[in-house]
Amino acid sequence: MSGFEEFDVTVRIWRQAASAEAGVWQEWQVRIPRGDHVLNLLAAVRRNGDPSLCFPAHFCKIGTCGACALLVDGRPALGCRALVKEPFVEVAPPRGRMILTDLLAEDAPH
Ligand code: FES
Repeated sequence: MSGFEEFDVTVRIWRQAASAEAGVWQEWQVRIPRGDHVLNLLAAVRRNGDPSLCFPAHFCKIGTCGACALLVDGRPALGCRALVKEPFVEVAPPRGRMILTDLLAEDAPH
């Protein structure tokens, strides 16, 4: 089944300790099933690249809670719904939210 064929992905991720800190892009190469979700891609980075990577990992994972809102290739997306089909993916925190750490963010105070 080609939908589950593994392939190598370069993932570029925005790392930032907190909203007030400077951020930096970092890249990793991971091997995942083609068409897997972005959250699973991030989990592969944490497992095989950097265990300190923070991202929203413990929420509904069915596209209803909105906790996994991210920018994927510059566009707003849900990490549990966005599929990885290309060999390069860029992931950043969502716009308009306060960054807690890396890709973890919460609604900014009004
Ligand atoms: S984890 Fe709830 S919408 Fe993605």
